[in-house]
Amino acid sequence: MDEIYLNGKFVKKSTAQISIMDRGFLFGDGVYELIPVYNKKIFLLHKHLNRLKNSLHLIGMQHIDGIDEIIEKLISSSHKNNFYIYLHITRGEQSHRNHIYSKSIEPTVLIMCEEYPSFNQSQIESGFSACIQEDFRWLKSNIKSISLLGNVLLKNLASSNGFYETLLIRNNKLTEGSASNVFLAKENKIFTPKLSNELLPGVTRNLLIELLNDKNMRVIESDITLEDLLSSDEVWCSSSTNAVVPIVKVDNKPIGTGKAGDISLLSHQIMKDFISAY
Ligand code: PDD
Repeated sequence: MDEIYLNGKFVKKSTAQISIMDRGFLFGDGVYELIPVYNKKIFLLHKHLNRLKNSLHLIGMQHIDGIDEIIEKLISSSHKNNFYIYLHITRGEQSHRNHIYSKSIEPTVLIMCEEYPSFNQSQIESGFSACIQEDFRWLKSNIKSISLLGNVLLKNLASSNGFYETLLIRNNKLTEGSASNVFLAKENKIFTPKLSNELLPGVTRNLLIELLNDKNMRVIESDITLEDLLSSDEVWCSSSTNAVVPIVKVDNKPIGTGKAGDISLLSHQIMKDFISAY
């Protein structure tokens, strides 16, 4: 876990350095990906690289070649089996601080392995709680930007009040969580917010939609109001760090029966099976 990749070299994490003039440091000018590794195998790499390509395109940067090989090297030199790859690309270092970027600078590329504690089965079955906040982030949340101040403040608001996640509402519509996508079930129908510039096209979200559809449990991608959310039978969050997390209380009020519901637990199991077979 000690060696990371930074700008063409594999170096010790504790000695790796970037310039204070890096635009990622000064402006949060860059994009990232977080990709799970299960049993030493990178999970859905091409889906993550496609999203990275799109994020880079949307901020006017070129795609970076050779990422697959670097990731493989990091995985094979790691002593761990389960962790994630964190991939961070900034527009690079510029001699003077200037909002206007120079087109000729080289990007900064950081790729490293990181560990993340995942929830166990009994935590999943007990479920988690969430709070609700107005989505005050910018209107390009489809870009996986490293400028995460909004998400950081919203996630900390949840954790400092004992909640797992903050669910975000913009113009009375559910967008996503501060670090996850959101699904809900009502009267045996499954819903998730439709893709737009207001939410990240989660790799886990998209996979779960496919897996549920394969089981003839169609997921309806639509607008979801705050009332829909609060009156639903089940809510769950999806992300690469914890694939499916049942939410049993929102703003201290129970969702449905107040226990992790059948569809949430089935979604969790479907993902778990897919990951084991991958
Ligand atoms: N975040 N929405 C937001 C705002 C996120 O930050 C994430 C994941 C997701 C889920 O996307 P995916 O299924 O592709 O992981 C949705 C990662 C885990 C993070 O920033 O740590």
